[in-house]
Amino acid sequence: MSSKNSTPSHDHDAVIKPSREFSKNSRIPSMAAYKRLYQESIDKPATFWAREAAELDWHKKWTKVLDWKPPFAKWFVGGKLNVCENCVDRHAAGPRRNKAAIIWEGEPGDKQVITYGQLQREVCRFANVLENKGVKAGDRVLIYLPMIPEAAYAMLACARIGAAHNVVFGGFAAEAIADRLEDSGATTIITADGGWRRGKVVPLKPVVDLALESYQNVNHVIVVNRCHTDTPMTSDRDSWWHDDIKGVSTRHKARAFDSEQPLFLLYTSGSTGKPKGILHTSGGYLTGTHSSFKYIFDIREQDVYWCTADIGWITGHSYIVYGPLANGATQVMYEGAPNFPDFGRFWKIVEDHGVSIFYTAPTAIRAFIRAGDQFPDAYDLSSLRLLGSVGEPINPQAWNWYHRKIGGGKCPIVDTWWQTETGAIMISPMPGATPCKPGTATHPFFGIDAAILDDSGNECKAGEDGRLVIRKPWPSMLRSIYGDKKRYETTYWSDYPGLYTAGDGARRDKQGNFWIIGRLDDVLNVSGHRLGTAEIESALVSHPAVAEAAVIGRPDDLKGQAVSAFVILKAGNKESPELRETLRKHVAKVIGAIAKPDDLYFSPGLPKTRSGKIMRRLLKELVATGTISGNVTTLEDFSVIDHLKNQLSRPS
Ligand code: WT7
Repeated sequence: MSSKNSTPSHDHDAVIKPSREFSKNSRIPSMAAYKRLYQESIDKPATFWAREAAELDWHKKWTKVLDWKPPFAKWFVGGKLNVCENCVDRHAAGPRRNKAAIIWEGEPGDKQVITYGQLQREVCRFANVLENKGVKAGDRVLIYLPMIPEAAYAMLACARIGAAHNVVFGGFAAEAIADRLEDSGATTIITADGGWRRGKVVPLKPVVDLALESYQNVNHVIVVNRCHTDTPMTSDRDSWWHDDIKGVSTRHKARAFDSEQPLFLLYTSGSTGKPKGILHTSGGYLTGTHSSFKYIFDIREQDVYWCTADIGWITGHSYIVYGPLANGATQVMYEGAPNFPDFGRFWKIVEDHGVSIFYTAPTAIRAFIRAGDQFPDAYDLSSLRLLGSVGEPINPQAWNWYHRKIGGGKCPIVDTWWQTETGAIMISPMPGATPCKPGTATHPFFGIDAAILDDSGNECKAGEDGRLVIRKPWPSMLRSIYGDKKRYETTYWSDYPGLYTAGDGARRDKQGNFWIIGRLDDVLNVSGHRLGTAEIESALVSHPAVAEAAVIGRPDDLKGQAVSAFVILKAGNKESPELRETLRKHVAKVIGAIAKPDDLYFSPGLPKTRSGKIMRRLLKELVATGTISGNVTTLEDFSVIDHLKNQLSRPS
């Protein structure tokens, strides 16, 4: 990677400070307070993290905070706890018993308020259902649900009985489910007939049925009747949630599990065709999400928090389920699309429920900007006091609009950098302390030793681009890639021995702020979702007409990146608009609609080096600028470029 940067240094960008009012009332009220605690957390991590972990309920205290045999960590060794009890029972047992845990709104407008007391009864009853079906600690349970309260009940019930959940985002297709079942060895599935999205039912159970045609080891499919659709059920295997819970006790005695008991697997894309099952465990993960949620969202008893992510992503795991509930927070959960029935829906929800902390993604903010100010202008957003952003770098234009139009100029914005692998937020402002510049996630969270290194492993100077690494283990870190320790070591810990490589490029300004530039590997960030180019390529090549494919990201105003695909057809197939459509749909069928290429070009060849490596750099430049200016001396066949240039000048 080049260490010279051609982009602005950001040293002289305008700085936005939190108001005195906000600072005064926050846990970390100044940069001096942040620095003091940060220094302690780095110098004495065991002291810092033991204090944070002690805010949770443990059946048995740990004997050692950290056991670190790089790259394998064990946190709170010997400690025993129940993650679900920490998120539910301890609140239901005290003054929060009748406090709203979840204020849920379905897309059609149906509503439910679930108190901590009710949450406890629902979760306990469903834990009994799972146990009655023979689900045991250590088993894997696949969850494929819309954003309905049952999704939270199901995850917490798994945690309660020590089974690991694997939530699969509702937008993924049957093959993606089958791959995950195969890799995780799950034997139980929890799904729904469908979910509501933009006024229509998105079918889910039929997709599960399709996946189960190729994977036969599932014993139980529990189906929530969300949409009252006609749903074929396979007797002996499938059952309705509402039938299963009939007459089942709402009491369940939770067992204590080891701090390192697997809590969940979450699959994410990398640079190969096969998604990785990221493994998270219990005590450290809950300590990390509880602690980061408390400080970064500066949660208060009376807050109404709302994270708009789907529980199918890590954001939904850490900042809808575990972080907020471990803190006893009240939160809004919404099933549907931001633009149903129109782009005012989110702002109506903020007004209706008095949301005070709002956490969303830059791609959504850009869509709102495009839709027009008349939507936020029509609602009273004065309940908001803090805003958050996650998923990709937030461009200054979006930051400024978010700050002014949604936050009324008075709400700090926490731009939170983290990953599926990190489990919890790693770099973020402290809302009451950190001076912000639009576009930077600013400084590392407590205990996070982040740095930017050049190719030889030296720390970059201010303004130089390098690789973002984490130099010390942290409690919510992934423990492995499920079933593949070798891949875990080579993917994350081999660029610089003993250091975690995030896969992101970054630079720091003179004030030490971290600016995330984007992925360095063949991973795309489309609307804040992570997609591997190799995964989409392998989906394309699985079509009988395709000989070879190359996929790259093209800059896109709304999605951050759009998917551009280049396809070489097998002899005997003719290029046509119909085939282009067929291939785009094929990707949606194999992976899911989120991976569908935005553009698809046919080509007789691809630009390759003499050793046969596809030169994605050239393809990227070509789609972004329409031409090639860089060095092409290593190119094997120059005519390919001319052909592609011609293609690109025609609309796809
Ligand atoms: C990748 C992780 C973390 C939950 C959502 C995505 C990018 C994430 C930011 C941010 C710049 C960001 C990175 C990272 N990313 N947040 N605030 N600023 N980039 O989770 O699917 O695991 O993706 O998202 O590139 O590596 P994920």
